[in-house]
Amino acid sequence: MGDKDARFWDRAARKYAASPIGDEAGFERTLARTRALIPGARAVELGCGTGTAALRLADAAGSYLATDISGGMIAIAQEKLEDARRTGFNGQLSFRQATAGILADEGARYDAVLGFNYLHLAGDLAAVLGHIRSLLVPGGLFISKTPCVGDMNPLVRLAIPLMRLVGKAPGVTTFSAASLAEAISAAGFEILENERHGSKKRDLRPFIAARAL
Ligand SMILES: C[S@@+](CC[C@H](N)C(=O)[O-])C[C@H]1O[C@@H](n2cnc3c(N)ncnc32)[C@H](O)[C@@H]1O
Repeated sequence: MGDKDARFWDRAARKYAASPIGDEAGFERTLARTRALIPGARAVELGCGTGTAALRLADAAGSYLATDISGGMIAIAQEKLEDARRTGFNGQLSFRQATAGILADEGARYDAVLGFNYLHLAGDLAAVLGHIRSLLVPGGLFISKTPCVGDMNPLVRLAIPLMRLVGKAPGVTTFSAASLAEAISAAGFEILENERHGSKKRDLRPFIAARAL
């Protein structure tokens, strides 16, 4: 994943920021569960988009760096943070344009790595999980909720590369919930929680909390 993806998300950023959360109740469950897992942690979020989750989670952590490949997304997140600070938000939150690979190359270490609606967009799964593992101290937590395209209707799976060809979809990595859990374990994690938080019929986004071994 590289410049093409960053450009796709830069183009999408304003529209993405304006679009409502698809499942408010599911989002709230995820926030509550995540907050309970990160008290006092040095946390980093990958693929934070416009910072919606970061702004709701940062005060539960000791420090919270929210990152994204897209400068357009980060610019909007910064605007939202400045607005929030004007109305009393005082969490230890900062935003920065970066990927897991960039942070891993810098040698940064965290107690928690978070990614929401991110892992299926971040390129080669084993490579990204390797970067995430190297960002964590032993015992640190990886928390993810992301769509498992491998469990979706085959027509949707066929449509994604076609839409990608005409610039209407980002690069997507296909995995099922089962193969995602296997890949996380193979990258050096013990899975502690594997839940579904959705309030609608079929939830294809497992919430996974995994401890770095
Ligand atoms: C579907 S949005 C999710 C944003 C936010 N986490 C949320 O749940 O609303 C996916 C985000 O991942 C970012 N992204 C895509 N590929 C990435 C990569 N390789 N590294 C970091 N961020 C990436 C995009 O720029 C976009 O902001």
